[in-house]
Amino acid sequence: MSKILITGGTGYIGSHTVVELMESGYDVVIVDNLSNSTTAPLEGIKRITGRKPEFVEADCSDLGQMRALFERYPQIRSVIHFAALKAVGESVEKPLDYYRNNILSVINLLELLGKRGGNFVFSSSCTVYGQPDILPVTEESPIKKALSPYGNTKRIAENIIEDTVAAMGNINAIALRYFNPIGAHPSAEIGEYPVGKPDNLIPFITQTVRGIWEKLQIFGSDYNTPDGTAIRDYFHVVDLAKAHVVALERLLEDKNRKPYEVFNVGAGRGITVLEIVNTFERVTGQKVNYEFTRRRAGDIEKVWADTTLAEKELGWRAEKTLEEALLSAWKWEERLLRRKGKGKGKGKRDNEH
Ligand code: NAD
Ligand code: WQD
Repeated sequence: MSKILITGGTGYIGSHTVVELMESGYDVVIVDNLSNSTTAPLEGIKRITGRKPEFVEADCSDLGQMRALFERYPQIRSVIHFAALKAVGESVEKPLDYYRNNILSVINLLELLGKRGGNFVFSSSCTVYGQPDILPVTEESPIKKALSPYGNTKRIAENIIEDTVAAMGNINAIALRYFNPIGAHPSAEIGEYPVGKPDNLIPFITQTVRGIWEKLQIFGSDYNTPDGTAIRDYFHVVDLAKAHVVALERLLEDKNRKPYEVFNVGAGRGITVLEIVNTFERVTGQKVNYEFTRRRAGDIEKVWADTTLAEKELGWRAEKTLEEALLSAWKWEERLLRRKGKGKGKGKRDNEH
């Protein structure tokens, strides 16, 4: 039986995707260097699916380590590539770390997959669109100059994949441009596990309610939006995980129209920061302490997806509600409160050790 290689599979989106794949009957092997995660999600996945996934600790940016992995698993014919560094601010401070890690990983995996042929699903990002001129944003919308080295690694990686697929002829690839995945598995066995102070809105809210931070700062109240706060396309991480299953199946069943395809993955509607806070308070019954501060450098005003293509071609659309997503995020935070950070790995919250 062929194996699906999941890089970054102990991370946030990867671990949720492993669950959906295993529940759909796929045989997976995870590779992760634990730079931003621990082995704890392997236990969570086992509690959900009844089986612990195979795990290899290795660095995708190291060609020797990846070669050894591919030799050990000749059954790997498909790769879902999540592994990347993703902190936007850190990428501005340490661009070479980001280019080295994120770009070399893509190159190594494509090179090794190309030796046997197969399928490649890539985690891209709506960050490649910058601030779009027209909303909602379609896959045809222009790619803008990246606002950070992190964002640039996504743009460059997409180009590398497209060129390599065209040249090699034996790899089919899909890049999924994620908008803003949020929430956690409804079982609260796995979820988002940010290290240090979270950059992203939802973990900052849940940690503030938990008392780790005094206040949520809402960055900007003077945007050209209905309530002045910025707009994003938030959607449930379990829906995102399912999008990977259908993307993989499209490739496995030769249903793709071109060797390289790109799809937006989001809910297809824009939500303001204040709407997030208000909905969170309503569904959890918890009060969020917040204040308005100035805009965050590099932030865009508004973006949301046109998901027509994913609906038509993949038969996928986000099913879960914002309420479900926010409630699951809170249930996960409550779970973390009860459970001290477990598992091996550097990617641990400072405040839990
Ligand atoms: P995450 O940090 O939780 O998961 C990434 C995993 O990759 C981590 O477990 C980390 O240890 C691992 N990793 C990093 N570099 C590695 C390397 N060289 N070798 C092996 N493992 C390595 O992040 P996530 O939120 O799950 O994101 C997954 C992917 O989705 C990333 O590529 C990210 O850029 C992309 N993405 C995320 C979002 C989001 O909002 N979370 C949005 C758009 C795109
Ligand atoms: C959402 C909104 C903030 C925190 C980032 C990356 C991007 C992509 C997705 C991967 C914004 C506001 C946030 C806080 C706030 N990742 N906010 N107070 O901005 O869409 O993008 O994640 O590719 O590359 O840049 O998501 O969750 O950081 O912020 O007011 O403490 O919440 O200003 O409007 P964003 P986010």
